Amino acid sequence: MRSLILLALAAATTARSLLSPRQTTTPLPSTFHWTSSDILVTPKNDTRHISGLKDPSIIFHNGAYHVFASIAKATGDNYNLVYFNFTDFAAAHAAPFAYLDQSALGPGYRAAPEVFFFAPQQLWYLVYQNGNAAYSTNRDISDPAGWSAPATFYSGTPALIEAGVGTTGYWVDMWVICDAAHCHLFSSDDNGRLYRSQTALADFPRGMSEPVVALQDTKENLFEAANVYALGNGNGSASYLLLVECIGAGDSPGGVRYFRSWTAASLDGKWTALAATQENPFMGAANVRFESGRSWTTSISHGEIVRSDVDQNLRIGPVGSWRFMYQGVDPKSTDVTYNDIPWNLGLLTQVAGK
Ligand SMILES: *[C@@H]1O[C@H](CO)[C@@H](O)[C@H](O)[C@H]1NC(C)=O
Ligand SMILES: *[C@@H]1O[C@H](CO)[C@@H](O)[C@H](O)[C@H]1NC(C)=O
Ligand SMILES: *[C@@H]1O[C@H](CO)[C@@H](O)[C@H](O)[C@H]1NC(C)=O
Repeated sequence: MRSLILLALAAATTARSLLSPRQTTTPLPSTFHWTSSDILVTPKNDTRHISGLKDPSIIFHNGAYHVFASIAKATGDNYNLVYFNFTDFAAAHAAPFAYLDQSALGPGYRAAPEVFFFAPQQLWYLVYQNGNAAYSTNRDISDPAGWSAPATFYSGTPALIEAGVGTTGYWVDMWVICDAAHCHLFSSDDNGRLYRSQTALADFPRGMSEPVVALQDTKENLFEAANVYALGNGNGSASYLLLVECIGAGDSPGGVRYFRSWTAASLDGKWTALAATQENPFMGAANVRFESGRSWTTSISHGEIVRSDVDQNLRIGPVGSWRFMYQGVDPKSTDVTYNDIPWNLGLLTQVAGK
């Protein structure tokens, strides 16, 4: 019996390698498992009086992790951005904060950053929301003073998004990813719609098309904080992974958050569900085990996979090796308003071979 199975396996392997000798991409599992760190980074006890550290975008470049995140509080200038870096996650909590309102990016409402290197222009881009879909650029990711004043992809809210937002939503969480020909801008309306626009790679950041609805569900099942990444070897055989933060059953400030996932063969393609329920999430309380034994959060909320390939294609390493920096919160912190929720940052590490 055993040798028959081995024979069958060997035959199947040979057949596969004969059929697609260049196929190097590991197929994605339909179930994911993660371990979580304890709280890694909190707001500083400084004159900023920040309540929540949120929405981290993270890349590893030149020997250091570079993190851009939102800082939130209920009073005054509610939302702006912070930058910090560290060489080792164990030292992340000690990294000094550089508040980006000190750069030309300026004070006022700025939130939910995404950082990447746009190789055709040799420029770092920070994409974020400021009421519109905004970006700033910088020649040096290590220089927090170097960010340019906000510019926007649109002159106002596109009509389709304005209609989707209605009276109950917000236009949030802009995300840019490029393929060989185009740059695509994804965003959410907090009402169950994921939007996509595009412009030619050569025209970026100008020329964003009118958006279309890329994916739609209920508000809870398709909320916000979308990440889109390229998988595969980047030789035209890429496929794409989409993660969207959702609101599940249970109690936590802002709702219990978890991520659903989809894949597609192209960025304008049809998205097929992968791990996409609260019981079998891409990431959520159901498939995260806390290394310390202390479940400091039941929400796995807004963040991103650690990228070491820093360019506009947003490629991530092989499945099994993924790490995701996220925001979490004590589910008992219910005595505060939304902008005062005490979000902290942690790190998930994928448990391979499961
Ligand atoms: C800030 O102070 C609070 C309570 O005083 C403490 O729990 C927290 O660890 C401090 N945070 C930092 C970054 O020092
Ligand atoms: C980390 O950030 C500081 C500014 O806050 C900068 O001076 C330093 O060069 C950065 N380090 C690295 C390794 O990028
Ligand atoms: C892409 O294809 C070329 C030629 O077949 C090969 O040399 C290269 O290693 C491939 N790149 C990746 C990232 O697999």
